[in-house]
Amino acid sequence: MQKERKLVIAGNWKMNKTVAEALDLVQGLKRELAPVKEVDIVVCPPFTALGEVSKQVLDSNIRLGAQNMSEQNGGAYTGEISAGMLKEFSVRYVILGHSERRQFQAESDALVAKKALAAHTAALKPIVCVGETLAEREAGQTEEVVGRQLRGSLAGLNKEQMQETILAYEPVWAIGTGRNATPEQAQEVHAFIRRTLAAIFDGTVAKRVRIQYGGSVKPGNSRELMSQADVDGALVGGASLEVRSFSDIIKNTI
Ligand code: 13P
Repeated sequence: MQKERKLVIAGNWKMNKTVAEALDLVQGLKRELAPVKEVDIVVCPPFTALGEVSKQVLDSNIRLGAQNMSEQNGGAYTGEISAGMLKEFSVRYVILGHSERRQFQAESDALVAKKALAAHTAALKPIVCVGETLAEREAGQTEEVVGRQLRGSLAGLNKEQMQETILAYEPVWAIGTGRNATPEQAQEVHAFIRRTLAAIFDGTVAKRVRIQYGGSVKPGNSRELMSQADVDGALVGGASLEVRSFSDIIKNTI
Protein backbone atom coordinates (compact mmCIF):
# COMPACT_ATOMS: atom_id res chain seq x y z
CA MET A 1 0.00 0.00 0.00
CA GLN A 2 1.35 3.47 -0.94
CA LYS A 3 1.21 5.90 1.97
CA GLU A 4 2.23 9.52 2.36
CA ARG A 5 3.85 8.67 5.71
CA LYS A 6 5.50 5.35 6.61
CA LEU A 7 3.14 3.21 8.68
CA VAL A 8 4.11 2.63 12.31
CA ILE A 9 2.39 -0.32 13.97
CA ALA A 10 2.93 -0.85 17.68
CA GLY A 11 1.85 -3.63 20.01
CA ASN A 12 0.79 -2.48 23.47
CA TRP A 13 1.08 -5.63 25.57
CA LYS A 14 -0.46 -3.85 28.59
CA MET A 15 -0.18 -5.86 31.84
CA ASN A 16 0.42 -9.17 30.07
CA LYS A 17 3.37 -11.57 29.58
CA THR A 18 5.89 -12.91 32.03
CA VAL A 19 9.50 -12.68 30.86
CA ALA A 20 9.34 -16.25 29.48
CA GLU A 21 6.10 -15.52 27.61
CA ALA A 22 7.49 -12.24 26.31
CA LEU A 23 10.54 -14.04 24.94
CA ASP A 24 8.35 -16.59 23.15
CA LEU A 25 6.31 -13.81 21.58
CA VAL A 26 9.21 -11.65 20.47
CA GLN A 27 11.14 -14.59 19.03
CA GLY A 28 8.08 -15.58 17.00
CA LEU A 29 7.61 -12.01 15.79
CA LYS A 30 11.26 -11.81 14.73
CA ARG A 31 10.83 -14.95 12.62
CA GLU A 32 7.59 -13.81 11.02
CA LEU A 33 8.43 -10.17 10.44
CA ALA A 34 12.12 -10.27 9.47
CA PRO A 35 11.50 -9.41 5.78
CA VAL A 36 9.20 -6.44 6.53
CA LYS A 37 10.74 -3.08 5.57
CA GLU A 38 7.61 -1.17 4.63
CA VAL A 39 6.33 -0.67 8.19
CA ASP A 40 7.99 0.58 11.39
CA ILE A 41 7.31 -2.17 13.94
CA VAL A 42 7.28 -1.48 17.69
CA VAL A 43 6.56 -3.73 20.68
CA CYS A 44 5.75 -2.31 24.11
CA PRO A 45 6.19 -5.02 26.78
CA PRO A 46 5.67 -4.42 30.49
CA PHE A 47 8.71 -2.88 32.28
CA THR A 48 9.72 -6.23 33.76
CA ALA A 49 10.28 -7.77 30.31
CA LEU A 50 12.07 -4.79 28.69
CA GLY A 51 15.57 -6.05 29.50
CA GLU A 52 15.19 -9.48 27.94
CA VAL A 53 13.08 -8.33 24.98
CA SER A 54 15.65 -5.61 24.34
CA LYS A 55 18.41 -8.21 23.80
CA GLN A 56 16.19 -10.08 21.34
CA VAL A 57 15.33 -7.12 19.14
CA LEU A 58 18.82 -5.55 19.01
CA ASP A 59 19.66 -7.09 15.62
CA SER A 60 16.16 -6.94 14.16
CA ASN A 61 13.67 -4.60 12.47
CA ILE A 62 11.58 -4.50 15.66
CA ARG A 63 11.92 -1.45 17.91
CA LEU A 64 11.21 -1.29 21.60
CA GLY A 65 8.67 0.91 23.36
CA ALA A 66 7.54 1.33 26.97
CA GLN A 67 3.95 1.78 28.14
CA ASN A 68 4.51 4.74 30.46
CA MET A 69 7.23 6.72 32.21
CA SER A 70 7.61 9.34 34.92
CA GLU A 71 7.78 13.03 34.11
CA GLN A 72 10.63 13.20 36.68
CA ASN A 73 14.28 12.39 36.00
CA GLY A 74 14.88 10.61 39.28
CA GLY A 75 14.59 10.81 43.05
CA ALA A 76 12.02 9.95 45.69
CA TYR A 77 9.16 8.77 43.45
CA THR A 78 8.38 5.26 44.67
CA GLY A 79 7.30 2.89 41.93
CA GLU A 80 8.15 5.22 39.05
CA ILE A 81 10.45 4.65 36.07
CA SER A 82 12.41 7.47 34.41
CA ALA A 83 13.27 8.08 30.77
CA GLY A 84 16.94 7.46 31.56
CA MET A 85 16.11 4.02 32.94
CA LEU A 86 14.24 3.17 29.74
CA LYS A 87 17.16 4.34 27.60
CA GLU A 88 19.34 1.75 29.34
CA PHE A 89 17.32 -0.92 27.51
CA SER A 90 17.50 0.84 24.14
CA VAL A 91 13.85 1.84 24.37
CA ARG A 92 12.98 4.26 21.53
CA TYR A 93 9.26 4.91 22.03
CA VAL A 94 7.02 5.47 25.02
CA ILE A 95 3.21 5.38 25.13
CA LEU A 96 1.90 8.35 27.11
CA GLY A 97 -1.60 9.22 28.28
CA HIS A 98 -3.21 5.92 27.34
CA SER A 99 -6.91 6.06 28.21
CA GLU A 100 -6.42 3.30 30.78
CA ARG A 101 -3.90 5.51 32.61
CA ARG A 102 -6.14 8.55 32.22
CA GLN A 103 -9.00 6.50 33.71
CA PHE A 104 -7.33 4.33 36.38
CA GLN A 105 -4.37 6.53 37.36
CA ALA A 106 -6.17 9.84 36.82
CA GLU A 107 -3.51 11.14 34.44
CA SER A 108 -4.32 14.63 33.21
CA ASP A 109 -3.44 16.37 29.97
CA ALA A 110 -1.05 18.57 31.96
CA LEU A 111 0.81 15.53 33.31
CA VAL A 112 0.96 13.94 29.86
CA ALA A 113 2.45 17.19 28.52
CA LYS A 114 5.20 17.08 31.16
CA LYS A 115 5.92 13.45 30.33
CA ALA A 116 6.06 14.19 26.59
CA LEU A 117 8.58 16.95 27.20
CA ALA A 118 10.68 14.68 29.45
CA ALA A 119 10.59 11.96 26.78
CA HIS A 120 11.88 14.34 24.10
CA THR A 121 14.58 15.65 26.40
CA ALA A 122 15.80 12.03 26.66
CA ALA A 123 15.43 11.49 22.88
CA LEU A 124 12.53 9.06 23.31
CA LYS A 125 9.63 9.29 20.86
CA PRO A 126 6.33 9.67 22.69
CA ILE A 127 3.18 8.00 21.41
CA VAL A 128 0.57 10.36 22.85
CA CYS A 129 -2.93 8.86 23.11
CA VAL A 130 -6.22 10.71 22.80
CA GLY A 131 -9.80 9.57 22.34
CA GLU A 132 -13.38 10.09 23.44
CA THR A 133 -15.69 7.85 25.49
CA LEU A 134 -18.93 6.44 24.10
CA ALA A 135 -20.98 8.97 26.10
CA GLU A 136 -18.88 11.83 24.67
CA ARG A 137 -19.28 10.52 21.11
CA GLU A 138 -23.01 10.10 21.51
CA ALA A 139 -23.26 13.63 22.90
CA GLY A 140 -21.52 14.92 19.76
CA GLN A 141 -18.44 16.00 21.74
CA THR A 142 -15.75 13.97 19.97
CA GLU A 143 -13.94 16.94 18.39
CA GLU A 144 -14.25 19.05 21.51
CA VAL A 145 -12.76 16.28 23.69
CA VAL A 146 -10.00 15.26 21.29
CA GLY A 147 -9.14 18.90 20.57
CA ARG A 148 -8.84 19.64 24.28
CA GLN A 149 -6.68 16.55 24.88
CA LEU A 150 -4.38 17.53 22.00
CA ARG A 151 -3.94 21.13 23.13
CA GLY A 152 -3.35 20.05 26.73
CA SER A 153 -1.15 17.02 26.13
CA LEU A 154 1.08 18.67 23.52
CA ALA A 155 1.45 21.98 25.35
CA GLY A 156 5.07 23.02 25.56
CA LEU A 157 6.39 20.94 22.66
CA ASN A 158 8.21 22.88 19.96
CA LYS A 159 7.75 22.15 16.25
CA GLU A 160 10.77 19.87 16.02
CA GLN A 161 9.60 17.84 19.01
CA MET A 162 6.07 17.62 17.62
CA GLN A 163 7.35 16.19 14.34
CA GLU A 164 9.04 13.42 16.30
CA THR A 165 5.89 12.69 18.30
CA ILE A 166 3.43 9.99 17.28
CA LEU A 167 -0.25 10.43 18.09
CA ALA A 168 -2.65 7.58 18.71
CA TYR A 169 -6.37 8.11 18.27
CA GLU A 170 -7.97 5.49 20.48
CA PRO A 171 -11.73 5.89 20.92
CA VAL A 172 -12.35 4.47 24.41
CA TRP A 173 -15.47 2.63 23.22
CA ALA A 174 -13.39 0.66 20.71
CA ILE A 175 -10.68 -0.51 23.13
CA GLY A 176 -10.94 -4.17 24.03
CA THR A 177 -14.58 -4.28 22.92
CA GLY A 178 -14.20 -5.97 19.55
CA ARG A 179 -16.04 -2.96 18.12
CA ASN A 180 -13.53 -0.99 16.03
CA ALA A 181 -14.22 2.45 14.63
CA THR A 182 -15.18 2.15 10.98
CA PRO A 183 -12.47 3.33 8.58
CA GLU A 184 -14.63 6.38 7.84
CA GLN A 185 -15.05 7.21 11.54
CA ALA A 186 -11.31 6.86 12.09
CA GLN A 187 -10.45 8.98 9.03
CA GLU A 188 -12.85 11.72 10.12
CA VAL A 189 -11.17 12.11 13.52
CA HIS A 190 -7.64 11.68 12.12
CA ALA A 191 -8.30 14.49 9.64
CA PHE A 192 -9.58 16.64 12.51
CA ILE A 193 -6.41 15.85 14.50
CA ARG A 194 -4.25 16.91 11.55
CA ARG A 195 -6.18 20.16 11.15
CA THR A 196 -5.75 20.82 14.86
CA LEU A 197 -1.99 20.21 14.58
CA ALA A 198 -1.85 22.70 11.71
CA ALA A 199 -3.61 25.25 13.91
CA ILE A 200 -1.39 24.67 16.97
CA PHE A 201 1.91 24.22 15.11
CA ASP A 202 1.88 24.63 11.31
CA GLY A 203 0.95 22.84 8.11
CA THR A 204 4.38 21.28 7.62
CA VAL A 205 4.35 19.77 11.10
CA ALA A 206 0.78 18.55 10.61
CA LYS A 207 1.76 16.83 7.35
CA ARG A 208 4.68 15.01 8.97
CA VAL A 209 3.15 13.69 12.20
CA ARG A 210 2.07 10.07 12.11
CA ILE A 211 -1.33 9.34 13.63
CA GLN A 212 -2.07 5.77 14.69
CA TYR A 213 -5.52 4.33 15.15
CA GLY A 214 -6.13 2.04 18.15
CA GLY A 215 -9.17 0.07 19.27
CA SER A 216 -9.95 -3.52 18.27
CA VAL A 217 -7.46 -3.59 15.39
CA LYS A 218 -7.34 -7.13 13.99
CA PRO A 219 -5.91 -8.89 10.93
CA GLY A 220 -9.33 -8.58 9.27
CA ASN A 221 -9.60 -4.79 9.54
CA SER A 222 -6.02 -3.48 9.54
CA ARG A 223 -5.74 -3.05 5.76
CA GLU A 224 -8.95 -1.09 5.39
CA LEU A 225 -8.20 1.13 8.39
CA MET A 226 -4.61 1.81 7.27
CA SER A 227 -5.74 2.60 3.72
CA GLN A 228 -7.38 5.81 4.97
CA ALA A 229 -5.42 8.92 4.00
CA ASP A 230 -4.74 10.16 7.53
CA VAL A 231 -4.35 6.80 9.30
CA ASP A 232 -0.60 6.20 9.52
CA GLY A 233 -0.43 3.11 11.68
CA ALA A 234 -2.00 1.26 14.54
CA LEU A 235 -1.67 0.84 18.28
CA VAL A 236 -2.77 -2.73 18.91
CA GLY A 237 -3.75 -4.23 22.27
CA GLY A 238 -5.28 -7.71 22.44
CA ALA A 239 -4.26 -8.80 18.95
CA SER A 240 -0.60 -7.91 19.64
CA LEU A 241 -0.34 -10.70 22.22
CA GLU A 242 -0.13 -13.51 19.65
CA VAL A 243 2.52 -13.95 16.95
CA ARG A 244 -0.01 -14.87 14.27
CA SER A 245 -2.44 -12.02 14.77
CA PHE A 246 0.14 -9.23 15.23
CA SER A 247 2.21 -10.32 12.26
CA ASP A 248 -0.90 -10.68 10.08
CA ILE A 249 -2.06 -7.19 11.07
CA ILE A 250 1.27 -5.87 9.78
CA LYS A 251 1.57 -8.06 6.69
CA ASN A 252 -2.00 -7.31 5.60
CA THR A 253 -1.14 -3.61 5.28
CA ILE A 254 1.73 -4.17 2.82
P1 13P B 1 -7.35 -3.42 21.82
O1 13P B 1 -6.59 -3.61 20.53
O2 13P B 1 -7.29 -4.63 22.70
O3 13P B 1 -8.74 -2.93 21.56
O4 13P B 1 -6.60 -2.28 22.65
C1 13P B 1 -6.28 -1.08 22.02
C2 13P B 1 -5.35 -0.33 22.89
O5 13P B 1 -5.72 0.15 23.95
C3 13P B 1 -3.96 -0.19 22.45
O6 13P B 1 -3.28 0.74 23.21
